[in-house]
Amino acid sequence: MTESSATLLQGGRVVSADGEYDADVLIVGEKVAAVGDVEAPAGATVLDVSGCVVMPGLIDNHTHLSMPFMGMMSSDDYDTGTQAAAAGGVTCLVDFAIQREPDQLRSALEEWQGRADGTAHVDYGFHMAITNANEATIDDMAAITEAGVASFKLFMAYKGELMTRDDAMTACMERARDLGALTMVHAENGDVVDLLVKRALRDGQTNAIHHALTRPEFVEAEATSRAARLSEFTGASLFVVHVTCEAAAAEIQAAQARGVPVAGETCTQYLVNTIDDLRKPDVEGCRYVCSPPLRDARNHEPLWDYVRRGILESISTDHCPFTNEQKARGLDDFSLVPNGLPVIQHRLAKLWDEGVVAGRITPSQLVDRTSTTIARRFGLTTKGAIAPGKDADVVVFDPSAPRGYGTHTSFMNVDYDLYEGEMASGSVRHTLSRGTMVYDNGQIVSQPGHGKFVARQTALASEGATA
Ligand code: URP
Ligand code: ZN
Ligand code: ZN
Repeated sequence: MTESSATLLQGGRVVSADGEYDADVLIVGEKVAAVGDVEAPAGATVLDVSGCVVMPGLIDNHTHLSMPFMGMMSSDDYDTGTQAAAAGGVTCLVDFAIQREPDQLRSALEEWQGRADGTAHVDYGFHMAITNANEATIDDMAAITEAGVASFKLFMAYKGELMTRDDAMTACMERARDLGALTMVHAENGDVVDLLVKRALRDGQTNAIHHALTRPEFVEAEATSRAARLSEFTGASLFVVHVTCEAAAAEIQAAQARGVPVAGETCTQYLVNTIDDLRKPDVEGCRYVCSPPLRDARNHEPLWDYVRRGILESISTDHCPFTNEQKARGLDDFSLVPNGLPVIQHRLAKLWDEGVVAGRITPSQLVDRTSTTIARRFGLTTKGAIAPGKDADVVVFDPSAPRGYGTHTSFMNVDYDLYEGEMASGSVRHTLSRGTMVYDNGQIVSQPGHGKFVARQTALASEGATA
């Protein structure tokens, strides 16, 4: 299919955040032109999608492609990572540009723009992670929002590498508030983690499970509560990333009940995997090392409940892949295992089975938590819905076409798959990004560079635009 042609998706079931109905979807150029009972215009490509679910392309608001971290680089770049995204029905992602000392924010943004430009298959935006919040950095925040980056991330953990202390965090939140930008936090008490890790290593507790045992739930709940209190104090809008457990989600609910502008996300793996995965032998256990860690299975149902009630308003992936060789660096010392999991391709299929088929969420809730609400929260105004005038970012999912998980079907640049050997009951048939077919029946058919940077406006700028 050529760029900017007309395409009719005929006979599918369109699922939106507020309902589902049988309808055709007409795409003209890069936009959705009509939804309903539509005649194919002359020359249009007609795709029979009967039996399929037609959804707005998923948005992944939390990824780390080509991320320099713990002395390594995450193994998916913007080419492979966005191919895997498209294979999983994702048409837009928001990745983290990370300030690297002694640089200021602008140079970090240029560096990340340079990595993504000309290589991505689906659209992308950036959050800016602040790791050195000095006065110059705080001054630089305005230039970053003007460049279309409407959210800032602060790490309350990873002491000595990415961690921001409370005084700097408060100053950044005040500035973000004034700019109308969103503050995102990785909520774990980095000082306590550091203490527990040192003690464990001293006592010879070196294998992967001790990564999780040295980051107990209270460490996350305490930091979540502290961030929420700082949001309450500063008035900055807060978004807590990768919430893993009931105790942390409860802190968000309590803050919301006080009227604090705080929201949260969880990630696929926290709904599906457990701490026991870290007990697997050798490098297999290391593959599951991420922070905050995978939790006891008793957290799954409470987390689903927070998702259903919208207190955890989105489900992302925190995709941050490392190969077996990279993970093996920490075989004798868990603190050296690079943190992060490869998940970007699997979110839709996993949430379909564990969420929709299992009766925990409806298809509309799935669309809302993986696309529509994310678009609204992060200022992706042209995305997140199938409606005339919106970007034609569409995923066609066949719920009756099983597909095996494994390296044979994965586009992620890792030499293992966390779900190797498992079957998904349904699979993505087509992914279209702004009207162009990117993924078609198992193949990537787009060229690197199709994906473009999406500039996002802060809440303040959008209010100005609509005033
Ligand atoms: O383990 C993780 N989550 N790695 C990626 C960096 C982060 O903390 O989000
Ligand atoms: Zn994090
Ligand atoms: Zn992350």
